[in-house]
Amino acid sequence: MKTVSVKLVPLGKELQAREGTPLIDILHEYGVEFPCGGKGTCGKCRVKVLEGEIDTDPNHLDRLSELGLDSDWRLACLSSCSSDLVLEVGQYETIIQADETAFEFTPGTGLGIAFDLGTTTLVGQLLDLSTGKILAVETAMNPQKVYGSDLITRLETALHDGPEEMTGIIRVKIGEMIERMMKNQDSPLDRVVIVGNTVMHHFFCGHDIKSLSFYPFESANTEMARFSTRALEWNYVDCSQVWFYPSIGSFVGSDILAGILATGMYKKEGYSVLIDLGTNGEIVIGNNKRLLCASTAAGPAFEGARISQGMQATTGAISSILSKGEDWQCTVIGRGEAKGICGSGLIDAVAVLLDNQLMGDFGEIQSGEPEINLNSRVKLTQKDIQEFQLAKAAIAAGIEILIRKLGISSLDVKDVFIAGGFGNYINLSNVVRVGMLEFPEERMHKLGNSALMGGKMFLFEDTSHPSAILEITEHVSLESEPDFQDIFVEKLAF
Ligand code: FES
Repeated sequence: MKTVSVKLVPLGKELQAREGTPLIDILHEYGVEFPCGGKGTCGKCRVKVLEGEIDTDPNHLDRLSELGLDSDWRLACLSSCSSDLVLEVGQYETIIQADETAFEFTPGTGLGIAFDLGTTTLVGQLLDLSTGKILAVETAMNPQKVYGSDLITRLETALHDGPEEMTGIIRVKIGEMIERMMKNQDSPLDRVVIVGNTVMHHFFCGHDIKSLSFYPFESANTEMARFSTRALEWNYVDCSQVWFYPSIGSFVGSDILAGILATGMYKKEGYSVLIDLGTNGEIVIGNNKRLLCASTAAGPAFEGARISQGMQATTGAISSILSKGEDWQCTVIGRGEAKGICGSGLIDAVAVLLDNQLMGDFGEIQSGEPEINLNSRVKLTQKDIQEFQLAKAAIAAGIEILIRKLGISSLDVKDVFIAGGFGNYINLSNVVRVGMLEFPEERMHKLGNSALMGGKMFLFEDTSHPSAILEITEHVSLESEPDFQDIFVEKLAF
């Protein structure tokens, strides 16, 4: 039988396979996952055909169109190598997390769409409100990224050039995603729920962003906003309920509000903690009587910024490190050569250095050298370790302040929910080892995309529901707390 070559981009690997070999048989060896087990429903195994041909049958074409993938894409789980191929593997791009968690709901009518509007990524899911079934999923990078990857840069750009462009491109992008999801749907769209951080809220709604850009960074408007599809110029669908959910405080948005709903912490007698380790590192602690929330400036180190070889969790990033004595095993996303280290890898690296007594309790490299090699290509410098200390101390101190304000101890906390894509990949025992979270490991739960899950739950709720959560939620400005500096310094040590 003929042999064909399959080249994987951006991995740079070329492999040989017998003509007709299913792609699932060869790709799983290269770290490609098949989350729905190859049923063709999740779209996560998608590959872009850069050269060559992959034949499709009617079922495959139906799946591609349901998933809104254009003609360059194929689902690896439904494909085989029928010719020499050059494939770009979708999973090697930035990981965008959707949500498939089941939850209880009171059935409604028509269709609903929930959106998690993130700084980096966008995820939308279309649901049948009578059954709760997910009918379509759309993911994309936030198009505002061309104006800067972080919120501050985008705010500066909007201040300088006017915010209209930032508002316009995000509205157009979400509209396109909705159009793709609504294709071939007969039922009417009843409502759209969008959740996101405060800056995304302001940009989408067209609110004045000046007050968000200067000290004391207060929001001009944290209210729930309602639009019609006509007002947003989404003319292919008619819906009078497009809701952007309210923010909790200046830098705690409706993504966290949705997270509170998803965890159910606002209904429980016992205390819970919700931590979103995204750009800002938001924390919520409390129960059915009182919830305190705060944001910390912890994010950049975990997202790769300010770390000499830091990068986001994409191809080439060391995502985890296991140490067996002197032997360290680094896992690299995409299984290629390591180019840098992402947040989860950074936590592991620090834990490994501590376990091997290569670093002291104050973060000092014991050898006295300015850096340590993690492998032949990636190193961690003394300054990187200091950046990590600042980030982990910000989180640990934020938690400590909120716990003290509630008059409880960490032992009173029953559940700790860790949200966000990054949270999903971290090693919990190492998070405890480095002193970022000081809770028993068995009480910690990885939550995935709780913003999207909460957004979907809001689709089934009365729109007055967020006010029930907001009534018991207080925003705490950590920097204004008199103890903050002392606790922060205390938490710098390992
Ligand atoms: S594994 Fe889910 S679509 Fe292929």
